[in-house]
Amino acid sequence: MAEPVLFKHRRGRRHASLEDYVADGGYEGLKKALASMAPAQVIQEVLDSGLRGRGGAGFPAGRKWGGVPPDGEHPRYMQCNADEMEPGTFKDRLIINADPHLLLEGMALGAYAIGASKGIIFIRPSYELEAELLTLEIERAREANFLGRNILGTDFSFDIIVHRSAGRYICGESGAQQRAVMGVRPNPIETGYRSAVRGLWNKPTVVNNVETLAHVPGIVRNGAAWFKGLALTPGGDGTKLFPVSGMVANPGCFELPSGVTLREIIFTHADGMLPGKRFKAALPGGTSTKFIPERLLDMPMDFQSMREQGYRLGTGAVIVFDQDTCLVAATLNMMHYFARESCGWCTPCRDGLPLVLDLLGRIEEGSATREDVAELGRTVAFMDHANCAFAPGAAEPVLALLEHFMDEVEAHLDGKGCPFSAQPALPWRGEPQRVFTWPGEPEGACPGARPRPKPRRIVSCPI
Ligand SMILES: Cc1cc2nc3c(=O)[nH]c(=O)nc-3n(C[C@H](O)[C@H](O)[C@H](O)COP(=O)(O)O)c2cc1C
Ligand code: SF4
Repeated sequence: MAEPVLFKHRRGRRHASLEDYVADGGYEGLKKALASMAPAQVIQEVLDSGLRGRGGAGFPAGRKWGGVPPDGEHPRYMQCNADEMEPGTFKDRLIINADPHLLLEGMALGAYAIGASKGIIFIRPSYELEAELLTLEIERAREANFLGRNILGTDFSFDIIVHRSAGRYICGESGAQQRAVMGVRPNPIETGYRSAVRGLWNKPTVVNNVETLAHVPGIVRNGAAWFKGLALTPGGDGTKLFPVSGMVANPGCFELPSGVTLREIIFTHADGMLPGKRFKAALPGGTSTKFIPERLLDMPMDFQSMREQGYRLGTGAVIVFDQDTCLVAATLNMMHYFARESCGWCTPCRDGLPLVLDLLGRIEEGSATREDVAELGRTVAFMDHANCAFAPGAAEPVLALLEHFMDEVEAHLDGKGCPFSAQPALPWRGEPQRVFTWPGEPEGACPGARPRPKPRRIVSCPI
């Protein structure tokens, strides 16, 4: 790839200061937009660029922005989703660490485009250092008048606060996140709600992922055609961050052209498998996506190409499994996480995921029948009836297990146990698992046994 776009300023542990950022053309996009572009032109540029949301769903950012009614109510909100709790995903954190002003400028441009005056960065609690860094850099941007009142001498005013999550996976879902910000129990809002019309405090609100917003300054500065040209495939858009973990020789986060193949990501950039290990499968975009078997390694990694083949790019977080890993056990592990993180609002998810966990557990320990496997298939198919995308996402690895790795499931049934290990992985049985460590918590303490810090509740708009 030619020049990185999002990781241009990524160097070791040092982040790009405001001075570094400005010296390299930072905030030029904002200056250009304020001086010579109407908000509708900014939206059109983002629409033409084909930029798709990097939070997992791949919804076109320009279409989302265009959904805010021009004559809609004020104030409006630009909400940045930095929750990043999808297992295997660690890209947003790296953007914030390397180049916080890229995100701040992207938010300011988005706010200008939709007419927002208030911005919120919703960030997970384990990213405390990033939250502090953002708070500091927001202050610097205010001092330089890139944020605050009458930005760069214009009529446009916009400011940002950092909101720490209390720390649940469901708080990454945009509607649940809005409830969390408003101090209400974070269930996803009923399907069909339109945040662009009625979001935070019933006012127009756009929610975008960190990586999505960080692409906006480049698009406004260099134009939609430049961004489209960075991709390798017609359906691709710009560059994409691919965090890679698992049984590879060189795990890390790689910025690559959208449309690169999974094979290239794993075998070129992550230096292939660990010595002695053979590739078996990979999750292409976190644990809410389907396992990709070896024969599909040449599938282009962009939202459109993957969707056309029945897969999802998700967050682009690649998790690689080798020949010695039991995929039943790996899937069981993921279901343990999902069953625990369900918000409990709707039946297919609240009651279905514990059933999936139980059925998979029985397969893993060798006590399942073929009827149990059939029931597993029926239960995950029913996840499509859930209220939000959480349950269908959780179903994805199970669907792929049954589609591509049925031989492995059969081996558990025929051998009456796990062929990979004499000790079946049954994380939901026995002693409760350690799920969360609060600062200062003694090693080995049960997290449920001690009072937790109260999450900060905001009952009215703080900015
Ligand atoms: C259960 C669940 C968890 C999610 N977690 C995140 C997250 O951590 N970060 C994120 O950006 N989007 C997450 N999303 C997607 C958001 O709901 C939303 O689509 C996204 O933030 C919109 O930004 P984008 O259009 O820029 O991708 C999650 C969705 C679901 C259903
Ligand atoms: S699918 Fe799960 S997380 Fe989503 S609303 Fe239903 S119970 Fe809650």
